[in-house]
Amino acid sequence: MTGLPMYQSLAPEQFSLTDEEFALVGKLLHVRSGIILGDHKRELAARMIGLRVRKMGLSSATEYLKRLQQDPQSEEWDAFVNVFTINHTAFFRERHHFGILADFIRTRSNPVHVWCCAASTGEEAYTIAITLLENTVAKEPKPWVWATDIDTQAIEKARKGIYTLERVQPVPEPLLKKYFYRGKGSKSGLVRVKPVLQEIVEFEPLNLVAPSWPSNQKFDAIFCRNTMIYFDKPTQTRILERFAPMLKPGGLLFAGHSENFTYLTKAFRLRGQTVYALA
Ligand SMILES: C[S@@+](CC[C@H](N)C(=O)[O-])C[C@H]1O[C@@H](n2cnc3c(N)ncnc32)[C@H](O)[C@@H]1O
Repeated sequence: MTGLPMYQSLAPEQFSLTDEEFALVGKLLHVRSGIILGDHKRELAARMIGLRVRKMGLSSATEYLKRLQQDPQSEEWDAFVNVFTINHTAFFRERHHFGILADFIRTRSNPVHVWCCAASTGEEAYTIAITLLENTVAKEPKPWVWATDIDTQAIEKARKGIYTLERVQPVPEPLLKKYFYRGKGSKSGLVRVKPVLQEIVEFEPLNLVAPSWPSNQKFDAIFCRNTMIYFDKPTQTRILERFAPMLKPGGLLFAGHSENFTYLTKAFRLRGQTVYALA
């Protein structure tokens, strides 16, 4: 016996949650972020909460969850949500969308504004920015990407714009040369996004299920790909109906390959492969 409260003396793999605690984690996560917590996340949840409990010098997971509930403004909410987000993304993911975006940009009046609303670690937003710059003739005013995500750690990484050579493999070589610096010496194996790209992308934390979004601007296109799959249908419908007034007439909504919004709302109609227009 160490004399420490239980959580303080356990190794991380020994942390566990009662059924009630795990159910409460799922409820809090869903209300806060819209994300549905699957049973297979139980060990992850136990480990994460165990580590936080230990770090904060608390005595139990119940005490930790109570603290979260007592302070909706607490920064601890970021740490809590960040653990359960799935940040899988890639440059030029679902490549056909960027051909459609390129054609679309050429039909729009300048400057084109795009909202990338679940930008994760930035690969999608920078791909949109490259497509904007490559297909915009006028130099000024510049096109712009508003890149948001609930995950504050992912947003921090995105802002830095540093990636491994493996991550940028899908970027065609001429675009890689044009928009990225290649690391040398201790930085070889890494690339960094050039200012020309960074200055047209603004990263900001944003929760899609928050009661209000910090923008009443209208966008030519919204990318919301591979994120709605983590939400239940009523949440998806609510978000889609909030997207509609944020699109300019003729604007487009890009969805992920396994997402189908057709039966969720009458606000959008399918226009191409996982691309929607206002109805
Ligand atoms: C699988 S990634 C998709 C990234 C990118 N859109 C793509 O398709 O490559 C899902 C992203 O959704 C974000 N996310 C989950 N819930 C969210 C919410 N309520 N508000 C904003 N972003 C959220 C996660 O943090 C994660 O970065």
